[in-house]
Amino acid sequence: MTDAFTPSTRRAITPAVPERHPPTDRGVQPDGLRRSLLAAPALILFAGPALATGMVTPPQMRGPYYPATKPTDSDLDLTQVAGRSQRAEGEVIEITGRVLAARGGALAGTTVEIWQADHQGRYHHPRESAGTADPNFQGFGTVRTTQAGAFLFRTIRPRFYGSGSFMRTPHIHFRVAAGGRADLVTQMYFPGEVMNARDSLFRSLSGEAARDALTAVLEPGTLPRFRFDIVLA
Ligand SMILES: [Fe+2]
Repeated sequence: MTDAFTPSTRRAITPAVPERHPPTDRGVQPDGLRRSLLAAPALILFAGPALATGMVTPPQMRGPYYPATKPTDSDLDLTQVAGRSQRAEGEVIEITGRVLAARGGALAGTTVEIWQADHQGRYHHPRESAGTADPNFQGFGTVRTTQAGAFLFRTIRPRFYGSGSFMRTPHIHFRVAAGGRADLVTQMYFPGEVMNARDSLFRSLSGEAARDALTAVLEPGTLPRFRFDIVLA
């Protein structure tokens, strides 16, 4: 079964790449990962003119798992918790993008938060009933966008959770707070994920353009890199 959704406006801007999941980062050395983290904002900065998608990123429900208590370590690298020697289990990925205004222009200094399930579909949250989440997974991260409106996280690909009508396809929650604008709370989905078509929240998006706006684009990189540009009203 393949993803039924056609390329988005953002895919037309971003060079098309095969929608496959490269191997995990097994064998990639920490120095290489650090270089990747440092290099990505530059790639974004020089990626071309500001996007003008014409579509404001749709909001989605916040859900029950926004951190009850934010972790002490809440930096951009969710795969490593300060003070712990082991890294999070799962496939390491990067999430990158820009925060833009609908009328054009990058939104520098915007707070971008993400929170998500671990490699077994479990959240760090008192309401999590599926067991204890990976203690080496940070679960939540926050950054501020650069002058180019860019942000970057390193994290792991979350697993689905739930079942039946309560099944959630793999996704990452976002909260975006830019001064003088209403906060945006939404969710990012993965391209080519066959479970998207069975996810009630994903299906509730009205139209292909809305689904595309919340579906990241896989870009080439040492690690699987998912681009998720956000447009605020
Ligand atoms: Fe969720």
